[in-house]
Amino acid sequence: MIETAPPLSLYIHLPWCVRKCPYCDFNSFRVGASVPESEYIRALQSDLNYSRSLVDDRVIQSLFMGGGTPSLFSGEAIRTLLDGVRGSLKVTDDAEITLEANPGTAEAHRFEAYRKAGGNRLSLGAQSFRAEKLASLGRMHGGREAREAFRLGRQAGFDNINIDLMYGLPEDTVEGSIEDLEQALALAPEHLSWYQLTLEPNTPFFRHPPPLPDENIIAEMEQRGRGRLREAGFQHYEISAYARPGLQCRHNRNYWEFGDYLGLGAGAHSKISLYEKRVILRQAKRRQPSAYVNAAGTPGSIESQYELTAADLIMEFMMNALRLTQGFTKQLFTDRTGLPLSVLNPALSLARQRGLLAVEPEQIQATARGRLFLDDLLQLFCVEPAQGMDPRRRSSR
Ligand SMILES: C[S@@+](CC[C@H](N)C(=O)[O-])C[C@H]1O[C@@H](n2cnc3c(N)ncnc32)[C@H](O)[C@@H]1O
Ligand code: SF4
Repeated sequence: MIETAPPLSLYIHLPWCVRKCPYCDFNSFRVGASVPESEYIRALQSDLNYSRSLVDDRVIQSLFMGGGTPSLFSGEAIRTLLDGVRGSLKVTDDAEITLEANPGTAEAHRFEAYRKAGGNRLSLGAQSFRAEKLASLGRMHGGREAREAFRLGRQAGFDNINIDLMYGLPEDTVEGSIEDLEQALALAPEHLSWYQLTLEPNTPFFRHPPPLPDENIIAEMEQRGRGRLREAGFQHYEISAYARPGLQCRHNRNYWEFGDYLGLGAGAHSKISLYEKRVILRQAKRRQPSAYVNAAGTPGSIESQYELTAADLIMEFMMNALRLTQGFTKQLFTDRTGLPLSVLNPALSLARQRGLLAVEPEQIQATARGRLFLDDLLQLFCVEPAQGMDPRRRSSR
């Protein structure tokens, strides 16, 4: 069983966007006349009052306001929200506090207010700096707005800024994707998230796929892009995440290291180790903002809840930890899942034989081949639990 509580993060979901991008399957909704911000912030506070018993007096080490488009919220609303969090939970003095922003939705005075409210990290969704690519993605901003948003972020005092970029865009070329990286690097961000565009079910791009580059072109983009980022001093520490030394995203790293997180807001997920009860719980809040707001602070706000079985724990741990370039220590597996490492032995031997995993005395990590065939690697850990090892699985609602 788990002996100590893992690090704890807080995720807050702010679900509105000016319009819905055709590739996006996040729980986000086109905003009506205006964002119902006071109503939503009140609902988040009720949710927090209700949910905080799950974490008692545990300390929050990172907080992430994601979306949707959090920068549609005023500085005043973010201040009220963060004051509420600090009044209800213990947040460490050096907690990483990130807010996602879309270029064009956040003006200078908002960034300053976010900074004053306690935000210390910005994540800017640039996606590309090329006008025709941004148009093909249905984005409302151009490269100039992205550069301007970055400049305003710096001016407001953010010394830790991430830029989200995507590659493998409709009719994209290797040169074009590298050109985007160069534009981002010219801004000298602390962190870059460089995602391959994926066609997600239930999106317009999935139903009517645009012409995307083939796998050889994608492989070349990755090879050249990674080389360029390394040369620029970025460490490639997770499939899509690159950071300057010491500036990896603590919040996301906690997900990948299978830490705990409490999720507030429409559709937000939590994973909490109730280690005294020998249980690891997963919970999701209602996805529709109006249903969430109406039920916030009551059991009706919870859409599903269940305890993770041993098989779930193995699979979920691997799905997260094998994304990290360095992989994980054997100790971390036991600390986070409460399971002995021996439960992995058959899968570890197979994965080694197939050249997908490197197993050192302390550390386990995917090989280059394992990262390329990550789904095949993960399949090996899809096991039925041994007799007597499986904690009960509780109801879903
Ligand atoms: C929560 S999303 C959105 C943040 C912000 N609303 C925006 O769009 O700029 C975080 C990031 O996921 C990436 N993303 C979203 N959908 C994607 C997809 N289908 N394929 C690859 N990356 C995607 C984008 O880079 C995006 O900035
Ligand atoms: S702005 Fe971001 S969250 Fe909103 S629809 Fe577009 S990609 Fe999704």
